[in-house]
Amino acid sequence: MKKITSLLSEVVACAFEKCGYDPKLGVVTVSDRMDLCQFQCNGAFAGAKLYKKAPFMIANDVKTALETSEIFGKVEVANPGFLNLTLTDEFLAGYVNEMALDANLGVPQAESEETIVLDYGGPNVAKPLHIGHLRSAIIGEAIKRIARATGRKVIGDVHLGDWGTPIGLCIAEYMERHPEWDCFKPDFDPEKDSVPELDAKELNEIYPYASAKSKEDPDFKEKAHEITSLFQKKHLGYEALRKEIVKISVQDAKRSYDKLDVEFDLWYGESDAYDYIDELVETLTDKGLLYESDGAMVVDVAEESDKITMPPAIIKKADGSNIYATTDLATIIQRRKDFDPDRIWYLTDKRQALHFTQVFRCAKKAGIVGDNVEFKFLGFGTMNGADGKPFKTRDGGVMRLSDLIDIATEGALEKLKDSEYISGDKAEIAQKIGVAAIKFGDLSNHPTKDYVFDLDKFLSFDGKTGTYLLYTVTRINSILKKADIAYNEKRTINGIYTDVERELALTLALTGEVFQRAFEEMTPSTICDNAYNIATAFSRFYHDNHILNEADEEKKKSWLALSLITRYLLTKHLDVLAIEYVENM
Ligand code: ARG
Repeated sequence: MKKITSLLSEVVACAFEKCGYDPKLGVVTVSDRMDLCQFQCNGAFAGAKLYKKAPFMIANDVKTALETSEIFGKVEVANPGFLNLTLTDEFLAGYVNEMALDANLGVPQAESEETIVLDYGGPNVAKPLHIGHLRSAIIGEAIKRIARATGRKVIGDVHLGDWGTPIGLCIAEYMERHPEWDCFKPDFDPEKDSVPELDAKELNEIYPYASAKSKEDPDFKEKAHEITSLFQKKHLGYEALRKEIVKISVQDAKRSYDKLDVEFDLWYGESDAYDYIDELVETLTDKGLLYESDGAMVVDVAEESDKITMPPAIIKKADGSNIYATTDLATIIQRRKDFDPDRIWYLTDKRQALHFTQVFRCAKKAGIVGDNVEFKFLGFGTMNGADGKPFKTRDGGVMRLSDLIDIATEGALEKLKDSEYISGDKAEIAQKIGVAAIKFGDLSNHPTKDYVFDLDKFLSFDGKTGTYLLYTVTRINSILKKADIAYNEKRTINGIYTDVERELALTLALTGEVFQRAFEEMTPSTICDNAYNIATAFSRFYHDNHILNEADEEKKKSWLALSLITRYLLTKHLDVLAIEYVENM
């Protein structure tokens, strides 16, 4: 189904053409002055230059041509040449009904087949998942679902940090604690020998311990580096232990992601790039791009238009070991071979912007992906505490994701304490509300901005919060249940009776625009804004009308249908944000 502005643009383009003007001028956008009109077209200004005519005259011609249209109830020309457009209620109601019956609820679908690899999450093995990875997981999951809702194939890859020094540090420490383990024997044989089951608690505690130790003890640090470079070359014993560490870490990460409703298609990591590194180096060498600089092997990626100095991408360090750029480039080769993607998108905090610019340029220069493959990096801002500094635990430590979820759940439980509406498991509902609060609190900010984590605000029933949205869904649920309407029933409205309904219908009708923009701009916040607009419009509609007691049967029928359609669309917004709703609260 076409989004509403596309449909309206076609009509207005025809009117321009009818008057002898270029139809391309007939682009319709959503009005930024809803008090004046619902949509607008500013084509008369560009037309004025083309036809050497006052914009006002062009706009007036088009207005006359539109007068017979059954789509617009009101067409006005505002000085100096804006076309202000308002729909007839019949058209608006018809459009909303068409959305309600559409398989994609009015969200326009990509015109051709398209595959996107989405690289998000990015936790580092051996280190506990902390809130720095929270945003990547939450924003990434939303972007994945938004892209899928617009008809794209998306492969979500967690891209574990499973090949770096943190693991080397852990192995070095295990070696001091358990020198008797088979994996430390020089003749370790993976066929016969095994690695002991690791204890998750010990693993959680071992990295911070080893990391602190490495800062004081240079020999230990050196040992950890040596181990890292050895398992990167597939040293049998270390590699076996590394795999075991990854296994335990992944189990832990999955538990946290589960609670957040974040789901990955692939659990690949940096180590999976191993098989493609030789090919990478060969390609870079063949193309004459790789050269030695201070013992390291590097590729120039600077461009003339650069405003900052762009350092070369380092492919091999002086000791021959691989670094972040190496695995990222090799992973691109792997992704091309496995999925032949049209786009590869990455999400990390914005401090990695330079790294990704280097990687993208190097990949294009070396031709390891075609020119038409789109690379995009979304660098997000920091989640801050009330003091404006990165969010910490009360004692100043790094907040673990699982603790954060617990805090939000407790907060929600406290709020629900006196609720009489809850049927079912309070703790379970509280967790959903807590997680919704965290997620909506994050997603409602533009991804690139820093924001303040304010749990009280996020859990409030008033204002732009996840809690308010879930509450709105439960209100609709209760109306529909009383009227004996199933949530998946298909119904249509038979007209628009009041102003608030018009406002609600218009907000619903903008869903297609909103989803498309959220996809193109990588902004789940766009979805949050519209979800909130839908919820507030519904609240006004609900307050002004006694839906269930309405005596006029036709009106009541239409209002119930509008409530049902609001539920479809509001939950569609929540679904792509990966926010679960509850039956009642
Ligand atoms: N593990 C990295 C980190 O914690 C994020 C990985 C992002 N993805 C990538 N392909 N580099 O910073």
